[in-house]
Amino acid sequence: MTVRPTLAVVGATGAVGTVLLRILSQRADIWGDIRLIASPRSAGRKLAVRGEEVEVTALAEDAFDGVDIALFDVPEDIAAQWAPVAAARGAAVVDNSAAFRRDPDVPLVVPEVNPAALRRRPRGIVASPDCTTLTMIVALGALHAEFGLRELVVSSYQAVSGAGQAGIETLRRQLSLVAGTQLGTNPGDVRRAVGDGTGPFPEPVALNVVPWAGSLCDEGWSSQEMRVRDESRKILGMPQLPVAVTCVRVPVITTHSLTVHARFEGEVTVGKAREIIATAPGVVLCDDPAAGEFPTPADVVGTDPTWVGRVRRALDDPTALELFVCGDNLRKGAALNTAQIAELVAAEKA
Ligand SMILES: NC(=O)c1ccc[n+]([C@@H]2O[C@H](COP(=O)([O-])OP(=O)(O)OC[C@H]3O[C@@H](n4cnc5c(N)ncnc54)[C@H](OP(=O)(O)O)[C@@H]3O)[C@@H](O)[C@H]2O)c1
Repeated sequence: MTVRPTLAVVGATGAVGTVLLRILSQRADIWGDIRLIASPRSAGRKLAVRGEEVEVTALAEDAFDGVDIALFDVPEDIAAQWAPVAAARGAAVVDNSAAFRRDPDVPLVVPEVNPAALRRRPRGIVASPDCTTLTMIVALGALHAEFGLRELVVSSYQAVSGAGQAGIETLRRQLSLVAGTQLGTNPGDVRRAVGDGTGPFPEPVALNVVPWAGSLCDEGWSSQEMRVRDESRKILGMPQLPVAVTCVRVPVITTHSLTVHARFEGEVTVGKAREIIATAPGVVLCDDPAAGEFPTPADVVGTDPTWVGRVRRALDDPTALELFVCGDNLRKGAALNTAQIAELVAAEKA
């Protein structure tokens, strides 16, 4: 009899971890034990997975004894410290943080785009991309395979849950302060109403958009913008791909949206692009502006695929396409991608 692999979910109580437990309860159940791990603050809490209550234990070295695959959904510094510990104890690690994504000895995997990258993982760690990159890369991977990508220009409209549970709580609190008021009509009135409670964001996010995500990098770029560039290049195996990104936070709880200007090797047609998008695994074409049909976060949240609409050929460049893409940042943008990777790793071991 084949022994079912033991899975550990590290960060089970967080925004991504919570969705991962839901996904593990919905997908084909290939797992033996599922262990739930978080900080000592959460030890003893019980969380539901696969219809059973499972007790959360505190992160510790012996928590990985007997674990075959460990999914890490914790802050970057905790992943940097603990993923190698889990790997040294024999677990195959799939990490959702930015800690290892740029490491040449750690593959950065999107199962629909570059599954072969999984084969070489000398550190025993696989990284899952950033949620903003993941929102567009499945559709872009399919278009690249047909047309040959040459350049990307991207703007994001990022949901607050991309900044974790703290981001969700911040927007909900701010919305309760501005709901039913006349705020948003005078300079600074929203800021005064929410006070210092901007949480992980530098500005109020309710009734606002904030052109910033992440930390400050060289020459005014944000870490989130640099990640989209670095990660797209690594996943597509195109280290020189020109990528320009502006990341913006919007008052949406979950589901990132992106506008994408993608330039290709030669002329493209909207008909062929729509055909590729409509048939690519993990992507849904939702594009009928005459009928008022395009993807929006309000409809996409809670779904697995990434949704593509507003497919147009650039007016001034027959080699370029304009797209609007939406994807649930906690599902395909995080938990689902790691669950898919874990299933591929488990299949290797079977
Ligand atoms: N949110 C997204 O859309 C998204 C998308 C892609 C990747 N990611 C990445 O996924 C990771 C998790 O993000 P998130 O949004 O779920 O964050 P979150 O809501 O803040 O959750 C963080 C999780 O990490 C645990 N944790 C914190 N400190 C710990 C410690 N010292 N030891 C053990 N566990 C600890 C927390 O446990 P307690 O509850 O016990 O504190 C919680 O379970 C991050 O690296 C993030 O960058 C997030």
